[in-house]
Amino acid sequence: MGTGPEISRMMLIFFLGLVLGSELIQCSVTYDRKAIVINGRRRILISGSIHYPRSTPDMWEDLVQKAKAGGLDMVDTYVFWNGHEPNPGQYVFEGRYDLVRFIKTVQKAGLYVNLRIGPYICAEWNFGGFPVWLKFVPGISFRTDNEPFKMAMQRFTEKIVTLMKSNNLYASQGGPIVLSQIENEYGQLAKLLGPAGYNYMTWAANMAVGMGTGVPWIMCKEDDAPDPVINTCNGFYCDTFSPNRPYKPTMWTEAWTGWFSQFGGPHSRRPVQDLAFAVARFIKRGGSLVNYYMYHGGTNFGRTAGGPFVTTSYDYDAPIDEYGLVRQPKYDHLKDLHRAIKMCEQALVSADPVVTLSGNYQQVHVFSSGGSCAAFISNYDTESSASVFFNNKNYKLPPRSISILPDCRNVVFNTAKVGAQTSHVRMSPINSVKLMWETYAEDVSSLDDSLTTLTAPGLLEQINVTRDTSDYLWYKTSVNIRSSESFLRGGELPTLIVQSTGPALHVFINGRLSGSVFGTRQQKKFTFTGKVNLHAGKNTIALLSVAVGLPNVGRHFETWNTGILGPVALHGLDEGKWDLSWEKWTYQVGLQGESMNLGSPASFSSVDWLQSSLATQKQQPLTWHKAYFNTPEGDHPLGLDMRGMGKGQMWINGQSIGRYSTAIATGDCESCSYRTNYRPDKCQRGCGKSTQRWYHVPRSWLNPSQNLLVIFEELGGNPSRISLAKRMVTSVCAEVSEVHPTIRNWQNTSYTESENLRTTRAKVRLRCGHFQSISSIKFASYGTPVGTCGSFRQGVCHASTSHHILEKNCIGRQRCSVSISSNNFEQDPCPNMQKRLAVEAVCAP
Ligand code: GAL
Repeated sequence: MGTGPEISRMMLIFFLGLVLGSELIQCSVTYDRKAIVINGRRRILISGSIHYPRSTPDMWEDLVQKAKAGGLDMVDTYVFWNGHEPNPGQYVFEGRYDLVRFIKTVQKAGLYVNLRIGPYICAEWNFGGFPVWLKFVPGISFRTDNEPFKMAMQRFTEKIVTLMKSNNLYASQGGPIVLSQIENEYGQLAKLLGPAGYNYMTWAANMAVGMGTGVPWIMCKEDDAPDPVINTCNGFYCDTFSPNRPYKPTMWTEAWTGWFSQFGGPHSRRPVQDLAFAVARFIKRGGSLVNYYMYHGGTNFGRTAGGPFVTTSYDYDAPIDEYGLVRQPKYDHLKDLHRAIKMCEQALVSADPVVTLSGNYQQVHVFSSGGSCAAFISNYDTESSASVFFNNKNYKLPPRSISILPDCRNVVFNTAKVGAQTSHVRMSPINSVKLMWETYAEDVSSLDDSLTTLTAPGLLEQINVTRDTSDYLWYKTSVNIRSSESFLRGGELPTLIVQSTGPALHVFINGRLSGSVFGTRQQKKFTFTGKVNLHAGKNTIALLSVAVGLPNVGRHFETWNTGILGPVALHGLDEGKWDLSWEKWTYQVGLQGESMNLGSPASFSSVDWLQSSLATQKQQPLTWHKAYFNTPEGDHPLGLDMRGMGKGQMWINGQSIGRYSTAIATGDCESCSYRTNYRPDKCQRGCGKSTQRWYHVPRSWLNPSQNLLVIFEELGGNPSRISLAKRMVTSVCAEVSEVHPTIRNWQNTSYTESENLRTTRAKVRLRCGHFQSISSIKFASYGTPVGTCGSFRQGVCHASTSHHILEKNCIGRQRCSVSISSNNFEQDPCPNMQKRLAVEAVCAP
């Protein structure tokens, strides 16, 4: 066996220079123990996940430019098999699934791509990215040593690799793709499956390498990844991770920036001080690639959310929010971190750290090589600040933080000192858009012959019947009640008990909603128990089982059941229990409105829509609502406020915005500190409110006027409360200390290692959104202000000129900066005290 560099050389093609007759500059991409090596140069790569189908093509350029401005070198995306091949052999590479266009957008911005083909991707995406038809391939078993599965996986992987090659998208061809991934977090499953797991994993690695892409392959969370495939880490922290061979670089493919949400649960917010700390920790231990999962989370449009119960929003508390606006201070604080890391790049890739311990909880990592020197000073004490003596100087660090010194002398960044501004973003109702509703109710009492119906004795598994063409499956049967039953003469009503494998169920007796039950992500199965109002003679029992996203993770999730598997029984009749499980059941896939394509303007059905005033008062379940509206002016992102509604789906001009639910979030929204390790159940927000009230309406889906909005409501809401809102920055805050040694204070945005690292005077910088300016200063205090953004107050020390100076510098401007010095404020309100400037400014269009 050869050495690491030899292996890399063996596996990868070296091409350098211009290809004759073409403008493409081919790159060699290889690796060694320190880093990915691009054209012979080791690189520290900062990357961010942006999933192309989770936004619209007209958003891509802006997202990628924001990623670049945020200091990223690379964009990372999964490839979404079920979006690309909805039916076997029938491919889609258009619209939101135009993978080539997405990669070219990244290329145009000058960034690299990590293409995570999977094709299993997890990602809170329906069925983990697998097309549902795959489940029905005879003899298939997912993600194991199974021929039908391996054949399908290889065919799709080849399809993608060929598409990339034919568009010259690999770096070896002059394109931006420098890395790609096969499988996803297979390690744990491989261990559970034993030899079959190991064989499949090895097959997958060899299959991928055999495709000759000219760039390295990775496998995340797969300790056994065979050479030359690099195993990488995913997690909230990855500083204890090492690759499985000493000649592979240490890479972190998923640094979770927050977490996903589920209907009925709160949102997870990861403090940026903690995220920056985790990244700095990883880099100082020799990590050379960090990918933020997600950098832009986006939206699970249509029925793409995994599940069950993953929300339509996949915001993820990412540095760019669901709507494409930067989230502050996360975005800017990380941008500052990236600059600081990049200033250390030469030293980081050339040297191994020399570590010295200082005190119980402090460490200094020094990377020094051929004239370049970078140091990372860490304070692991979660309670106290620390003073660390290094290079003849004392450095003071807040609790649980790392300072970065790109010249081993001057601190340009500390993970816990956030110099970046905070911004308040709000969904602001657009009063000019009035929605006039018309309504159409599904016919619950009869079966629709135009829909797929089948009759069978007994209860059938839902996905076997629907093949996931709809969320909805009706299970209908009838019962004949004898007129002699005692409950008909004032006795206790019978009880219907329905056991379901979930995830949601509505029970209709003789066409009337009798009750609804929902599972949870943790507990999918549930039982409906309810008194039912039956009459003598024939009664219909109609059970509407609802899928809310198919599972995306778990051992052999393709075999998991959905829908009503029983038993279903009536209790309390004169003869006791009547088990209906093996009665004749009639199945109807989907809703009448779906078969008539009511969500689409192209629907030519002759439906009798009722005017809103009549209909809204009734608030029936299983009701379609439609309204037209003109597009509001401006370019603010738009969201639909679904207040007043229950659960269902929405379409704009025939495009599905996704599922909605206004279920209230229960959870523990305790206070949050960055000082202890983050978990998704820490730092939760939004308890007691709807998990998701607003739903992203992409502007590119709108016409200037007469946009058709269609809602299908399962439970019976009041559409008159639905409104359109725009997402906008309403105010910005900043709080900076007099001597704030972050690189934010530097005049220069471009920098080199040799740049003068003097600590310059601190400044507060404020920036409103596009087409906005600062209209007023809500709060300003140079002195010792207290409180946080939105509730700042003057402290014991305050310069009376504060407000005036801020107004003078900032009013009417989109961005402004104000130096923090007594000279600037024409007075020193408390000599010999360290002062701060805290500001809250209002942004207006
Ligand atoms: C990871 C997985 C991702 C995503 C993430 C949670 O384990 O690789 O695809 O599901 O968890 O958001």
